[in-house]
Amino acid sequence: MTIIRTKRFILRPIEKADAPRFAVLCNDLEIARHTARIPHPYTRQDAELFVDQLIAARAKGDEHAFAVCRDNEIIACAGALQTGEQVWEIGYWVGADYRGDGVASEIADAMVQFAIGEMGAASVTAGYFIDNPTSGRVLEKIGFRDTGEAVMITSLGRAQPVSSHRLELDVPGFSGARDVVIEA
Ligand SMILES: CC(C)(COP(=O)(O)OP(=O)(O)OC[C@H]1O[C@@H](n2cnc3c(N)ncnc32)[C@H](O)[C@@H]1OP(=O)(O)O)[C@@H](O)C(=O)NCCC(=O)NCCS
Repeated sequence: MTIIRTKRFILRPIEKADAPRFAVLCNDLEIARHTARIPHPYTRQDAELFVDQLIAARAKGDEHAFAVCRDNEIIACAGALQTGEQVWEIGYWVGADYRGDGVASEIADAMVQFAIGEMGAASVTAGYFIDNPTSGRVLEKIGFRDTGEAVMITSLGRAQPVSSHRLELDVPGFSGARDVVIEA
């Protein structure tokens, strides 16, 4: 079981018992509108399905989602999804009460370190909807660059396709936070 320790948080694999907490955190239009796979409103049943899918994907090895915990409480979620040979896409969301405090920046950095260090990614990608500049800033700080490509991605939370910026990390130029420890 992979555990990632950052300066302030512990990222651990998502478990079945996490569904009730995800049901609370994800019932948030901000998360639904700015991600692809989270409907709104978000029910306990949606959370149970989400958790089951992520546990199955982890067993397959092509997606690793982590519960981001502070003092044993889940405050956010981060993941890395394999989209090609040695190509991994990172994603994240932060619970409403925990935004504006550098959480996304810290966990996105950790996901990049996980993708490169543990998954052997040669290329790390990410994307954000055009009306979510906050996420764009998080990615820019880590060293992602806009590819100039814009793709339409359906957001379940909006029930319609939304234009999305595509970004790629400058992997050789990436240094990452020094205090991240990955225990495989
Ligand atoms: C987007 C999200 C992940 C950001 O999380 P967070 O923990 O608040 O982000 P951080 O505090 O680490 O960093 C936010 C950065 O954006 C900046 N920012 C805030 N509002 C901004 C705006 N309107 N335009 C540009 N930058 C903005 C902040 O100043 C900060 O940058 P700084 O460190 O240089 O000051 C969070 O709001 C969220 O979960 N939203 C809903 C789901 C989502 O959007 N997920 C990402 C999908 S790509």
